[in-house]
Amino acid sequence: MSSKQDWIASAGRALRGTLDIPGDKSVSHRAVMFAALADGTSTIDGFLEGEDTRATAAIFSRLGVQMETPSPSRRVVHGVGVDGLKAADGTLDCGNAGTGMRLLAGLLAAQRFDSVLIGDESLSKRPMRRVTGPLSTMGARIDTEEGGLPPLRIHGGQALSGIDYTLEVASAQVKSAVLLAGLYAEGETVVREPHPTRDYTERMLKAFGVDIAFSPGFARLRGGQRLKATDIAVPADFSSAAFFLVAASIIPGSELRLRAVGLNPRRTGLLQALRLMGADITEENASEHGGEPVADLVVRHAPLRGIEVPEALVPDMIDEFPALFVAAAAADGPTVVRGAAELRVKESDRLASMANGLRALGLRVDETPDGATIFPGPLQGGAVDSHGDHRIAMAFSIAGQLAAGEVRIGDVANVATSFPNYDGLATGAGFALRKG
Ligand code: S3P
Repeated sequence: MSSKQDWIASAGRALRGTLDIPGDKSVSHRAVMFAALADGTSTIDGFLEGEDTRATAAIFSRLGVQMETPSPSRRVVHGVGVDGLKAADGTLDCGNAGTGMRLLAGLLAAQRFDSVLIGDESLSKRPMRRVTGPLSTMGARIDTEEGGLPPLRIHGGQALSGIDYTLEVASAQVKSAVLLAGLYAEGETVVREPHPTRDYTERMLKAFGVDIAFSPGFARLRGGQRLKATDIAVPADFSSAAFFLVAASIIPGSELRLRAVGLNPRRTGLLQALRLMGADITEENASEHGGEPVADLVVRHAPLRGIEVPEALVPDMIDEFPALFVAAAAADGPTVVRGAAELRVKESDRLASMANGLRALGLRVDETPDGATIFPGPLQGGAVDSHGDHRIAMAFSIAGQLAAGEVRIGDVANVATSFPNYDGLATGAGFALRKG
């Protein structure tokens, strides 16, 4: 686990330049997992060298998969086949990663051997019944702590059967866990989603040669299939780019180009929300990167106005609310968020973390169980707690650029889980941000 560390953010200059954002976290987790399960050798380019995705890679090494790192952000994975994983001795540490733990729960529930998944302080408080529930229906045996919390003690050697499952919460992690278990189950597994979520598992299983049918809100596969090695190009992470989209939008005089950012429509809700607010963001050099749409995003400062965030956008911007709150803080007129109760069970309670932090900088924020209204105003200096949540820390580093005094952001080491060298990139672009 990372040690405590603070940042001090203060008024910086206009942001300028061209930035290369690191690889997508969701895609990097899945690329390592599926390459490990494939027959043959796969190369992953653009792999996110973050703590979360490295934790997943380390787990597969412990499960007997050989992996090389010929250069940073590249992995060569020697797949062992769907039946080739071996029991690890000792617990498997997912670090801060909900994606790692929930997807692995589905995969490991189907193995012949037992496994124990553990996580850091934040992950140890996150709900796991949403995965253990449907997996048990399939025949899996997983013990949790009281309240459905990690560690997950997974009893292998169970025969699984396919299910037709309708998600109770919009969650790509739950969908993916069920589909991965479904790969090993007798018969067909179907997942239905009232609100479509990111479809990387479906797209990537297809790229690995799995016969899977999917459309927004629906996925179906048959058990007993094998994966064929393939090379994966990971696009730049939209969720990391999001902080610079907001920062350049609200800092006068800014203009940034973010190169080749992944624009999967299930991820880009913030782009739509920012455009509704009046942001000036254009897409250039559109192309495809490993089957995913990518484009350069060019963002220029523009006056923003408060909006009611359309509820239909919430699943497509679920990781972007910390950044959205900062955009709202700098807008003209209040911004209303509803239908986002899931934010309370992310790496921290993101509604509370953002509301409390903005209040500490002098704003009024009214919280509801599933959202908040943010009333913009001049930001003062002050101290905010990121609660060890990477996205809260990065969001307040932006708020600090507009604050009248210094903003001390507590407990920021977990930024390394998703965005190594964020502070280097941000200061290079014009942020005033230092370790404190
Ligand atoms: C993710 C799905 C989302 C998202 C997380 C990554 C994934 O979580 O918040 O950062 O890679 O599938 P939920 O499935 O809990 O919504």
